[in-house]
Amino acid sequence: MKKALLTGCTGQDGSYLTEFLLAGGYEVHGIKRRSSSLNTDRIDHIYRDVHECRTPFFLHYGDLTDASSLATMLHDIRPDEVYNLGAQSHVKVSFDIPEYTADVVATGTLRLLEAVRRTGLKCRFYQASSSEMFGSAAPPQRESTPFHPRSPYGCAKLFGHSITVNYRESYGAHASSGILFNHESPRRGETFVTRKITRALARIKCGIQSKLYLGNLEARRDWGYAPDYVRAMWLMLQQDTPDDYVVGTGEAHTVREFVELAFERAGLDWKEHVVIDPAYFRPAEVDFLLADCTKARRELGWEPTVTFRELVRIMVDADLDQVERQIAGGLDELRRAAAGVSTRA
Ligand code: NAP
Ligand code: GDD
Repeated sequence: MKKALLTGCTGQDGSYLTEFLLAGGYEVHGIKRRSSSLNTDRIDHIYRDVHECRTPFFLHYGDLTDASSLATMLHDIRPDEVYNLGAQSHVKVSFDIPEYTADVVATGTLRLLEAVRRTGLKCRFYQASSSEMFGSAAPPQRESTPFHPRSPYGCAKLFGHSITVNYRESYGAHASSGILFNHESPRRGETFVTRKITRALARIKCGIQSKLYLGNLEARRDWGYAPDYVRAMWLMLQQDTPDDYVVGTGEAHTVREFVELAFERAGLDWKEHVVIDPAYFRPAEVDFLLADCTKARRELGWEPTVTFRELVRIMVDADLDQVERQIAGGLDELRRAAAGVSTRA
């Protein structure tokens, strides 16, 4: 049985990749950060199976800022594949905490690569690089497009990308870098624009919120569906030769278009609810990201399976469903409390 070690397994991509690898017969080891509150929502359903179905999934405390924890895990687990998905991944937040972002995203990648090298493992390595590295480069962006990052996050990712290439060239590491364009899902973090929109409109539809505050509606992104993208990560590590690949849909839309489609799906008029708030504008914006993923299609045989319209529908329906269930759950709770029965211990 192959073993995989993931940083960022509690995040959007980490949760889908964990499911994907388990379904493919892997033993999966995930690194999670110590947090004062629970941070395993996205993988709790998998962890429940560990006890009931003996799913080979193991969680370990660790942190990309802590080299010794990374080295210990690599030494003890001896994985065949390492996926480095851990990151302070919010672009706007990276302007507020640039040093921490660089520590986790840039130096963290170096720590992990160096731990692999020093352990002498012959494992394959995946680096979660980002289209943010292209920044202001003219679209469409492909592997040969010169990078011009526009945020501390983009700059840190560019270091992570470059050091991955460097370890491949210097030490012959089987290290590949996926330059992934934006990908979303119902598990997307609540402060990224797509999820912020779908979550807010579900609350508006259910009458528990009235306004949605947004920044720049004119930015264009190439948005795909996250489960498709974790398949691309795995495909990269199955190649004989490590390489870099751009992954995206080849179609770009503005934030405004996402808002319009999402509100239309929910049967609401977005103009009645959306308010532009300068607080959400960034010191430097990335205006237009559009992937040319010819290489990934040709060499990996990778194709996206979900269109932009379908993605919006999936996310809107999931958030509507979640809010409705929360409201129903709250009403049940009120009814039980009124009847003198409490579900809380
Ligand atoms: P995400 O949902 O924000 O997940 C980030 C993960 O990193 C979480 O598990 C988080 O843990 C973990 N993490 C944060 N700081 C860490 C630290 N100091 N040490 C170890 N782990 C840490 O991000 P995502 O959307 O799944 O993206 C996965 C990766 O792909 C990231 O590296 C991201 O930058 C990159 N990427 C994403 C996209 C996209 O559109 N989604 C596109 C290109 C590249 P907690 O759960 O405890 O916060
Ligand atoms: N987050 C957010 N919140 N973004 C907003 C808002 C808002 O209220 N209003 C407008 N936007 C615009 C941002 O200015 C940006 O142009 C666009 O919406 C997308 O923002 P995000 O969803 O935060 O994603 P991102 O493109 O900055 O970064 C994501 O994609 C990268 C790949 O290109 C993240 O997942 C990164 O980790 C990833 O590397």
